[in-house]
Amino acid sequence: MNFHILTLFPEMVLNGLNTSIIGRAVNSGLLSIEAVNIRDYAFNKHQSVDDYPYGGGAGMLMQAEPVYLAWKAVEEKIQARRSLPAENGAPLTGETGVSAPEQQEISMPPETTAKRSRVVYLSPQGDVFDQKMAEELAKEEDLILLCGHYEGIDERVLEEVVTDYVSIGDYVLTGGELPAMVMVDAISRLVPGVLHNDVSAEFESFQDNFLEYPQYSRPEEWHGKKVPPVLLSGHHANIEKWRREQSILRTKERRPDLFAKCELTDKEKKWLEGLEIQKEI
Ligand code: ADE
Repeated sequence: MNFHILTLFPEMVLNGLNTSIIGRAVNSGLLSIEAVNIRDYAFNKHQSVDDYPYGGGAGMLMQAEPVYLAWKAVEEKIQARRSLPAENGAPLTGETGVSAPEQQEISMPPETTAKRSRVVYLSPQGDVFDQKMAEELAKEEDLILLCGHYEGIDERVLEEVVTDYVSIGDYVLTGGELPAMVMVDAISRLVPGVLHNDVSAEFESFQDNFLEYPQYSRPEEWHGKKVPPVLLSGHHANIEKWRREQSILRTKERRPDLFAKCELTDKEKKWLEGLEIQKEI
């Protein structure tokens, strides 16, 4: 999968995504993360990309043209790669930035009926990012993430290029870079091979809206607290049952909003009712 992050702070996103699991996946070619500096597409000699908002108000806005040119260069490059024979169209590896002149040499293929890549604009006004959205976006071959800064971006370019508005939560950050990094991380770990262990992406928090069960490692006793004996029993069916029950209890207690969407079997419902009755006695 190829991420293309349009930003005024390319080092910020690249430095934040070059370590641990994501860094390894980039080095092994499973992912590519390209940070495109919008300032490279400034159209004035001062390389400024922001200006005062019409109608007044606090702060500066990012202007439409540099954002548009940066997006166009990236989209043209994606379309050019896709129009190549399969092996050349494979994911780009370990990419860390694109220079403006190199991109501008590539033009859109003549039959521009090609499907445009999705462009996510990170904004507190967007749909709230969740695991389901991460799963859906992980199916894309290319994803363009547009990061605003200052007071945002001129509305006209957003209307032209953005396909999805996404927020990472109901709070306001200084820019879209951290949200873009959050999205890249959450989506990347769902790309086959990135976690080396596809089971761990499957059985974890938010699987069918359940939170993950508690986990323990050595030693068997720590600060007087013992590992639940069933986990030492080697009895796989019992361990599975215990984990499922813990997931149910955890979700009910910590995330009643998610629990309301969870589907329990009749047996599990009865078991839970039994526990409630015991608590009341
Ligand atoms: N930009 C500023 N705040 C944001 C948020 N909460 N989510 C996504 N982008 C943002």
